[in-house]
Amino acid sequence: MIFKTDRLVLSTWQSSDWIALRPIASDAEVMRYITGGVPWTDERIQLFVNRQMELFLARGFCRWKLLVKPTEEMIGFCGVGFWGDELEAEIGWWLARRYWGRGLATEAARVALRDAFERAAGLDRIVSIARPANTASVRIMEKLGLKVECEFEKDGVRLVRYAIDRPASYTAPRFKTSSG
Ligand SMILES: CC(C)(COP(=O)(O)OP(=O)(O)OC[C@H]1O[C@@H](n2cnc3c(N)ncnc32)[C@H](O)[C@@H]1OP(=O)(O)O)[C@@H](O)C(=O)NCCC(=O)NCCS
Repeated sequence: MIFKTDRLVLSTWQSSDWIALRPIASDAEVMRYITGGVPWTDERIQLFVNRQMELFLARGFCRWKLLVKPTEEMIGFCGVGFWGDELEAEIGWWLARRYWGRGLATEAARVALRDAFERAAGLDRIVSIARPANTASVRIMEKLGLKVECEFEKDGVRLVRYAIDRPASYTAPRFKTSSG
């Protein structure tokens, strides 16, 4: 499964992709609002990639791998998955630091959100969770039309949850897709 935007390719994962994700998941700035800056271990990165492959097979969506045009370098991920042991589908995004501030996460998230509502599993509602201080992430939620729902605490960390119901206007895909 592949989606193309003006600047990005969103695609499914292969096990070996964990190696390209490693520099991102071990950058303390990227991990600042995820783990407090602690890098993920290689095992944790591999688990993440394997979970995305399983999720795509089971449900038809995942946190898509992001490749930047024209080089197709892997620069992060964006898409719907499950956050911790939460039961609701959750949209999230991570980008390599040098690609921040160009609107790329929003560009990817618009496609991932639309697909999750239209094609993937007919999801009726999608949430997004962040630390309130993660203003870039919260701003993306707002730009996508998610509305703030509540603040809560998990493992001693204060979090905010945004949510969006499937818009009635989401009826036909407007982006290019191809499979293979
Ligand atoms: C969150 C992240 C994916 C954003 O990527 P990005 O491509 O820079 O995001 P975009 O450019 O699409 O949008 C970011 C928005 O937040 C705004 N923003 C960014 N930093 C901000 C800050 N410190 N204060 C206020 N607004 C900020 C941008 O101006 C932009 O809004 P605008 O389009 O209205 O100007 C990126 O910072 C990242 O990978 N962070 C580390 C991983 C992470 O924390 N992921 C989210 C976990 S909940």
